[in-house]
Amino acid sequence: MRRMIAGNWKMNGLREDGVALASAVARQAREAKGLSCYVVLCPPATLIAPVLEAVAGSPVAVGGQNCHAEPDGAFTGEISAEMLADLGCAHVIVGHSERRMGYGETDAAVRARAEAAHRAGLVPIICVGETLDEREAGRTLDVVLRQLDRSLPVGSAAGSGTVVVAYEPVWAIGSGLVPTREDIETVHRALRTRVPAGTPILYGGSAKPDNAGELLAADEVGGLLVGGASLDAGSFWRIVESCA
Ligand code: PGA
Repeated sequence: MRRMIAGNWKMNGLREDGVALASAVARQAREAKGLSCYVVLCPPATLIAPVLEAVAGSPVAVGGQNCHAEPDGAFTGEISAEMLADLGCAHVIVGHSERRMGYGETDAAVRARAEAAHRAGLVPIICVGETLDEREAGRTLDVVLRQLDRSLPVGSAAGSGTVVVAYEPVWAIGSGLVPTREDIETVHRALRTRVPAGTPILYGGSAKPDNAGELLAADEVGGLLVGGASLDAGSFWRIVESCA
Protein backbone atom coordinates (compact mmCIF):
# COMPACT_ATOMS: atom_id res chain seq x y z
CA MET A 1 0.00 0.00 0.00
CA ARG A 2 1.33 3.47 -0.91
CA ARG A 3 2.10 5.35 2.26
CA MET A 4 0.99 8.88 3.07
CA ILE A 5 3.07 11.73 4.39
CA ALA A 6 0.85 14.61 5.48
CA GLY A 7 2.12 17.98 6.67
CA ASN A 8 0.01 19.76 9.27
CA TRP A 9 1.16 23.38 9.23
CA LYS A 10 -1.23 24.32 12.07
CA MET A 11 -1.59 28.11 12.51
CA ASN A 12 1.67 28.94 10.79
CA GLY A 13 2.52 30.76 7.63
CA LEU A 14 1.84 34.03 5.91
CA ARG A 15 1.33 34.11 2.18
CA GLU A 16 4.92 34.56 1.08
CA ASP A 17 6.43 31.86 3.31
CA GLY A 18 3.55 29.45 2.76
CA VAL A 19 3.72 29.72 -1.02
CA ALA A 20 7.51 29.35 -0.94
CA LEU A 21 7.22 26.23 1.24
CA ALA A 22 4.52 24.63 -0.91
CA SER A 23 6.41 25.53 -4.11
CA ALA A 24 9.59 23.92 -2.78
CA VAL A 25 7.72 20.72 -1.85
CA ALA A 26 5.97 20.67 -5.24
CA ARG A 27 9.27 21.15 -7.06
CA GLN A 28 10.82 18.21 -5.22
CA ALA A 29 7.76 16.12 -5.99
CA ARG A 30 7.90 16.97 -9.68
CA GLU A 31 11.60 16.19 -9.85
CA ALA A 32 11.30 12.88 -8.00
CA LYS A 33 10.94 10.02 -10.42
CA GLY A 34 7.75 8.36 -9.27
CA LEU A 35 6.90 9.25 -5.70
CA SER A 36 6.81 6.23 -3.44
CA CYS A 37 4.27 7.88 -1.15
CA TYR A 38 1.28 10.14 -1.31
CA VAL A 39 2.09 13.69 -0.13
CA VAL A 40 -0.52 16.01 1.37
CA LEU A 41 -0.08 19.56 2.68
CA CYS A 42 -2.59 20.92 5.20
CA PRO A 43 -1.98 24.66 5.44
CA PRO A 44 -4.10 27.14 7.40
CA ALA A 45 -7.36 27.98 5.62
CA THR A 46 -6.07 31.36 4.45
CA LEU A 47 -3.34 29.63 2.45
CA ILE A 48 -5.29 26.80 0.88
CA ALA A 49 -5.97 28.62 -2.39
CA PRO A 50 -2.41 29.91 -2.93
CA VAL A 51 -0.96 26.54 -1.87
CA LEU A 52 -3.22 24.75 -4.37
CA GLU A 53 -1.93 27.10 -7.03
CA ALA A 54 1.67 26.47 -5.98
CA VAL A 55 1.33 22.67 -6.17
CA ALA A 56 -0.71 22.59 -9.41
CA GLY A 57 0.78 20.13 -11.88
CA SER A 58 2.59 18.22 -9.11
CA PRO A 59 1.46 15.04 -7.35
CA VAL A 60 1.06 16.96 -4.06
CA ALA A 61 -2.47 17.06 -2.62
CA VAL A 62 -3.91 19.64 -0.24
CA GLY A 63 -6.17 19.33 2.79
CA GLY A 64 -7.84 21.46 5.42
CA GLN A 65 -7.12 21.26 9.16
CA ASN A 66 -10.74 21.12 10.28
CA CYS A 67 -14.26 21.58 8.96
CA HIS A 68 -17.71 22.27 10.33
CA ALA A 69 -20.35 19.54 10.23
CA GLU A 70 -22.91 21.63 8.36
CA PRO A 71 -22.56 22.53 4.67
CA ASP A 72 -23.45 26.19 5.25
CA GLY A 73 -25.35 28.48 7.59
CA ALA A 74 -25.03 30.89 10.48
CA PHE A 75 -21.73 29.63 11.91
CA THR A 76 -19.53 32.69 12.07
CA GLY A 77 -15.87 31.90 11.60
CA GLU A 78 -16.38 28.31 10.48
CA ILE A 79 -15.51 26.60 7.20
CA SER A 80 -17.50 23.72 5.72
CA ALA A 81 -16.20 20.58 4.07
CA GLU A 82 -17.98 21.69 0.91
CA MET A 83 -15.96 24.91 0.93
CA LEU A 84 -12.71 22.95 1.22
CA ALA A 85 -13.78 20.64 -1.60
CA ASP A 86 -14.82 23.62 -3.69
CA LEU A 87 -11.29 25.04 -3.44
CA GLY A 88 -9.77 21.74 -4.54
CA CYS A 89 -8.87 20.03 -1.27
CA ALA A 90 -8.78 16.24 -1.20
CA HIS A 91 -8.57 15.78 2.57
CA VAL A 92 -9.41 17.33 5.89
CA ILE A 93 -7.91 16.61 9.31
CA VAL A 94 -10.61 16.08 11.94
CA GLY A 95 -10.32 15.48 15.66
CA HIS A 96 -6.76 16.67 16.09
CA SER A 97 -5.99 16.68 19.82
CA GLU A 98 -5.48 20.46 19.68
CA ARG A 99 -9.14 20.68 18.58
CA ARG A 100 -10.42 18.03 20.95
CA MET A 101 -8.67 19.55 23.96
CA GLY A 102 -8.50 23.24 23.09
CA TYR A 103 -11.98 23.59 21.59
CA GLY A 104 -13.90 20.87 23.35
CA GLU A 105 -14.56 18.77 20.26
CA THR A 106 -16.18 15.55 21.37
CA ASP A 107 -16.04 12.23 19.55
CA ALA A 108 -19.57 12.94 18.31
CA ALA A 109 -18.45 16.29 16.91
CA VAL A 110 -15.47 14.64 15.24
CA ARG A 111 -17.70 11.98 13.70
CA ALA A 112 -20.06 14.67 12.39
CA ARG A 113 -17.11 16.44 10.78
CA ALA A 114 -15.81 13.19 9.26
CA GLU A 115 -19.27 12.50 7.87
CA ALA A 116 -19.38 16.04 6.49
CA ALA A 117 -16.05 15.35 4.77
CA HIS A 118 -17.58 12.30 3.08
CA ARG A 119 -20.66 14.25 2.07
CA ALA A 120 -18.35 16.74 0.36
CA GLY A 121 -16.20 14.07 -1.30
CA LEU A 122 -13.17 14.56 0.97
CA VAL A 123 -11.19 11.85 2.74
CA PRO A 124 -11.04 12.72 6.45
CA ILE A 125 -7.83 12.15 8.41
CA ILE A 126 -9.28 11.19 11.79
CA CYS A 127 -6.91 11.74 14.72
CA VAL A 128 -6.89 9.79 17.98
CA GLY A 129 -4.42 9.72 20.83
CA GLU A 130 -4.02 9.39 24.56
CA THR A 131 -2.71 11.94 27.07
CA LEU A 132 0.28 11.20 29.27
CA ASP A 133 -2.00 10.61 32.28
CA GLU A 134 -4.07 8.13 30.29
CA ARG A 135 -0.93 6.34 29.13
CA GLU A 136 0.50 6.17 32.64
CA ALA A 137 -2.79 4.79 33.90
CA GLY A 138 -2.48 1.98 31.34
CA ARG A 139 -5.53 3.22 29.43
CA THR A 140 -3.96 3.92 26.01
CA LEU A 141 -5.78 1.22 24.07
CA ASP A 142 -9.11 1.88 25.78
CA VAL A 143 -8.86 5.58 24.98
CA VAL A 144 -7.78 5.36 21.35
CA LEU A 145 -10.21 2.56 20.47
CA ARG A 146 -13.09 4.39 22.11
CA GLN A 147 -12.16 7.58 20.25
CA LEU A 148 -11.89 5.72 16.97
CA ASP A 149 -15.13 3.78 17.35
CA ARG A 150 -17.03 6.95 18.16
CA SER A 151 -15.32 9.19 15.60
CA LEU A 152 -15.48 6.98 12.51
CA PRO A 153 -18.30 7.92 10.16
CA VAL A 154 -21.18 5.51 10.43
CA GLY A 155 -20.93 3.05 7.55
CA SER A 156 -17.25 3.66 6.91
CA ALA A 157 -16.75 -0.07 7.29
CA ALA A 158 -18.29 -0.29 3.86
CA GLY A 159 -15.14 0.54 1.99
CA SER A 160 -11.44 1.14 2.16
CA GLY A 161 -9.88 4.39 1.05
CA THR A 162 -12.67 6.45 2.53
CA VAL A 163 -10.89 7.36 5.74
CA VAL A 164 -7.36 7.79 7.01
CA VAL A 165 -6.65 7.33 10.72
CA ALA A 166 -3.80 9.09 12.53
CA TYR A 167 -2.53 7.87 15.88
CA GLU A 168 -1.05 10.87 17.64
CA PRO A 169 -0.18 10.45 21.33
CA VAL A 170 -0.91 13.87 22.82
CA TRP A 171 2.30 13.81 24.85
CA ALA A 172 4.39 13.18 21.73
CA ILE A 173 3.08 16.17 19.79
CA GLY A 174 5.65 18.94 19.58
CA SER A 175 7.56 17.48 22.53
CA GLY A 176 10.39 15.61 20.85
CA LEU A 177 9.17 12.47 22.64
CA VAL A 178 8.19 9.43 20.61
CA PRO A 179 6.71 6.13 21.84
CA THR A 180 8.79 3.01 21.43
CA ARG A 181 8.34 1.07 18.24
CA GLU A 182 6.68 -1.68 20.23
CA ASP A 183 4.18 0.73 21.74
CA ILE A 184 3.36 2.21 18.34
CA GLU A 185 2.87 -1.25 16.88
CA THR A 186 0.59 -2.30 19.73
CA VAL A 187 -1.67 0.69 19.13
CA HIS A 188 -1.62 0.45 15.35
CA ARG A 189 -2.44 -3.26 15.41
CA ALA A 190 -5.38 -2.56 17.71
CA LEU A 191 -6.64 0.28 15.49
CA ARG A 192 -6.28 -1.97 12.46
CA THR A 193 -8.92 -4.34 13.85
CA ARG A 194 -11.51 -1.53 13.77
CA VAL A 195 -11.11 -0.11 10.25
CA PRO A 196 -11.72 -1.45 6.73
CA ALA A 197 -8.81 -3.32 5.12
CA GLY A 198 -6.53 -0.94 3.29
CA THR A 199 -7.22 2.03 5.57
CA PRO A 200 -3.96 3.94 6.07
CA ILE A 201 -3.07 4.37 9.75
CA LEU A 202 -0.59 7.20 10.16
CA TYR A 203 1.62 7.89 13.15
CA GLY A 204 2.03 11.50 14.30
CA GLY A 205 3.93 13.18 17.14
CA SER A 206 7.51 14.49 16.81
CA ALA A 207 8.10 12.75 13.49
CA LYS A 208 11.36 14.16 12.15
CA PRO A 209 13.80 13.37 9.34
CA ASP A 210 16.03 11.40 11.70
CA ASN A 211 13.32 9.13 13.09
CA ALA A 212 11.00 8.89 10.06
CA GLY A 213 12.66 5.78 8.64
CA GLU A 214 12.30 3.91 11.90
CA LEU A 215 8.72 5.04 12.43
CA LEU A 216 7.78 3.98 8.91
CA ALA A 217 9.40 0.59 9.44
CA ALA A 218 7.02 -0.17 12.31
CA ASP A 219 4.29 -2.71 11.61
CA GLU A 220 1.00 -1.15 10.46
CA VAL A 221 2.40 2.37 10.18
CA GLY A 222 0.98 3.52 6.85
CA GLY A 223 2.54 6.96 6.88
CA LEU A 224 3.17 10.00 9.03
CA LEU A 225 1.30 13.12 10.07
CA VAL A 226 4.02 15.72 10.51
CA GLY A 227 3.66 19.00 12.38
CA GLY A 228 6.77 21.04 13.15
CA ALA A 229 9.03 19.31 10.63
CA SER A 230 6.57 20.04 7.82
CA LEU A 231 7.31 23.77 8.12
CA ASP A 232 10.72 23.35 6.54
CA ALA A 233 10.78 22.06 2.97
CA GLY A 234 14.12 20.30 3.42
CA SER A 235 13.04 18.47 6.58
CA PHE A 236 9.67 17.58 5.16
CA TRP A 237 11.20 16.24 1.99
CA ARG A 238 13.69 14.10 3.88
CA ILE A 239 10.73 12.56 5.66
CA VAL A 240 9.01 11.92 2.31
CA GLU A 241 12.19 10.28 1.05
CA SER A 242 12.18 7.97 4.07
CA CYS A 243 9.27 6.17 2.42
CA ALA A 244 11.47 4.85 -0.37
P1 PGA B 1 4.56 17.49 15.65
O1 PGA B 1 2.96 17.62 15.43
O2 PGA B 1 5.09 16.74 14.46
O3 PGA B 1 5.03 18.92 15.67
O4 PGA B 1 4.77 16.77 16.91
C1 PGA B 1 2.21 16.57 14.90
C2 PGA B 1 0.76 16.94 14.83
O5 PGA B 1 0.27 17.62 15.75
O6 PGA B 1 0.05 16.58 13.88
